[in-house]
Amino acid sequence: MSTIKIENFDVTVDALPGHSLLISLVNAEQPIHTVCGGKAGCGCCRVRILEGGSKLSPVNDNERRRLGDAKITAGWRLACQTHILRDVTIYLPVKEDLDSFCTKK
Ligand code: FES
Repeated sequence: MSTIKIENFDVTVDALPGHSLLISLVNAEQPIHTVCGGKAGCGCCRVRILEGGSKLSPVNDNERRRLGDAKITAGWRLACQTHILRDVTIYLPVKEDLDSFCTKK
Protein backbone atom coordinates (compact mmCIF):
# COMPACT_ATOMS: atom_id res chain seq x y z
CA MET A 1 0.00 0.00 0.00
CA SER A 2 1.26 3.49 -0.81
CA THR A 3 1.67 6.09 1.90
CA ILE A 4 1.18 9.83 2.22
CA LYS A 5 3.68 11.62 4.42
CA ILE A 6 2.38 14.96 5.65
CA GLU A 7 5.65 16.79 6.18
CA ASN A 8 4.36 19.72 8.22
CA PHE A 9 2.45 17.46 10.63
CA ASP A 10 5.20 14.80 10.77
CA VAL A 11 2.64 12.06 10.19
CA THR A 12 2.32 9.30 7.58
CA VAL A 13 -1.00 7.75 6.57
CA ASP A 14 -2.02 4.99 4.18
CA ALA A 15 -3.35 5.85 0.73
CA LEU A 16 -6.56 3.99 -0.08
CA PRO A 17 -6.10 2.14 -3.38
CA GLY A 18 -8.38 3.49 -6.10
CA HIS A 19 -9.41 6.56 -4.12
CA SER A 20 -8.37 10.19 -4.34
CA LEU A 21 -5.81 11.80 -2.09
CA LEU A 22 -8.72 13.71 -0.50
CA ILE A 23 -10.57 10.52 0.43
CA SER A 24 -7.41 8.97 1.86
CA LEU A 25 -6.73 12.03 4.02
CA VAL A 26 -10.34 12.25 5.21
CA ASN A 27 -10.32 8.51 5.98
CA ALA A 28 -7.16 9.02 8.03
CA GLU A 29 -8.89 11.86 9.92
CA GLN A 30 -6.44 14.51 8.72
CA PRO A 31 -7.61 18.15 8.68
CA ILE A 32 -8.16 18.64 4.95
CA HIS A 33 -10.96 20.93 3.84
CA THR A 34 -13.66 20.69 1.19
CA VAL A 35 -16.62 22.88 0.40
CA CYS A 36 -17.59 21.40 -2.97
CA GLY A 37 -17.46 17.78 -1.86
CA GLY A 38 -14.61 16.79 -4.16
CA LYS A 39 -15.84 18.26 -7.45
CA ALA A 40 -12.88 20.57 -8.15
CA GLY A 41 -15.10 23.56 -7.45
CA CYS A 42 -13.71 25.16 -4.29
CA GLY A 43 -9.92 24.74 -4.28
CA CYS A 44 -9.99 24.15 -0.52
CA CYS A 45 -8.44 20.69 -0.79
CA ARG A 46 -5.23 21.92 -2.35
CA VAL A 47 -1.99 20.36 -1.17
CA ARG A 48 1.58 20.96 -2.21
CA ILE A 49 3.54 17.94 -3.39
CA LEU A 50 7.02 17.98 -1.88
CA GLU A 51 8.24 14.57 -3.06
CA GLY A 52 6.80 11.98 -5.41
CA GLY A 53 5.04 14.28 -7.85
CA SER A 54 5.81 11.92 -10.70
CA LYS A 55 4.03 9.16 -8.79
CA LEU A 56 0.64 10.83 -9.00
CA SER A 57 -2.10 10.81 -11.61
CA PRO A 58 -1.52 13.52 -14.24
CA VAL A 59 -2.82 17.04 -13.65
CA ASN A 60 -6.27 17.28 -15.21
CA ASP A 61 -8.19 20.16 -16.79
CA ASN A 62 -10.24 20.76 -13.62
CA GLU A 63 -7.06 21.35 -11.65
CA ARG A 64 -5.62 23.67 -14.31
CA ARG A 65 -8.79 25.77 -14.26
CA ARG A 66 -9.03 25.93 -10.45
CA LEU A 67 -5.34 26.36 -9.54
CA GLY A 68 -3.77 27.96 -12.60
CA ASP A 69 -0.44 27.15 -14.20
CA ALA A 70 1.71 29.01 -11.65
CA LYS A 71 0.43 26.97 -8.71
CA ILE A 72 0.61 23.73 -10.71
CA THR A 73 4.23 24.48 -11.58
CA ALA A 74 4.93 25.17 -7.89
CA GLY A 75 3.69 21.68 -7.02
CA TRP A 76 0.11 22.36 -5.93
CA ARG A 77 -2.60 19.80 -6.67
CA LEU A 78 -6.26 19.38 -5.84
CA ALA A 79 -6.43 16.40 -3.51
CA CYS A 80 -9.91 15.56 -4.80
CA GLN A 81 -8.59 15.14 -8.33
CA THR A 82 -5.31 13.39 -7.52
CA HIS A 83 -4.67 9.68 -7.23
CA ILE A 84 -1.52 8.20 -5.74
CA LEU A 85 0.50 5.57 -7.53
CA ARG A 86 3.43 5.40 -5.07
CA ASP A 87 4.53 7.00 -1.79
CA VAL A 88 4.36 10.80 -1.71
CA THR A 89 5.25 13.60 0.67
CA ILE A 90 2.96 16.62 0.89
CA TYR A 91 2.44 19.93 2.63
CA LEU A 92 -1.11 20.12 3.96
CA PRO A 93 -2.24 23.75 4.29
CA VAL A 94 -3.32 24.85 7.74
CA LYS A 95 -6.31 27.11 8.38
CA GLU A 96 -4.26 30.29 8.02
CA ASP A 97 -3.15 29.25 4.51
CA LEU A 98 -6.69 28.88 3.19
CA ASP A 99 -9.46 31.23 2.10
CA SER A 100 -11.84 31.84 5.01
CA PHE A 101 -14.77 30.16 3.22
CA CYS A 102 -12.80 26.90 3.25
CA THR A 103 -12.71 26.66 7.02
CA LYS A 104 -16.20 27.86 7.95
CA LYS A 105 -18.38 25.12 9.33
S1 FES B 1 -12.73 19.45 -2.62
FE1 FES B 1 -13.29 21.29 -3.61
S2 FES B 1 -11.74 21.50 -5.09
FE2 FES B 1 -11.25 19.63 -4.16
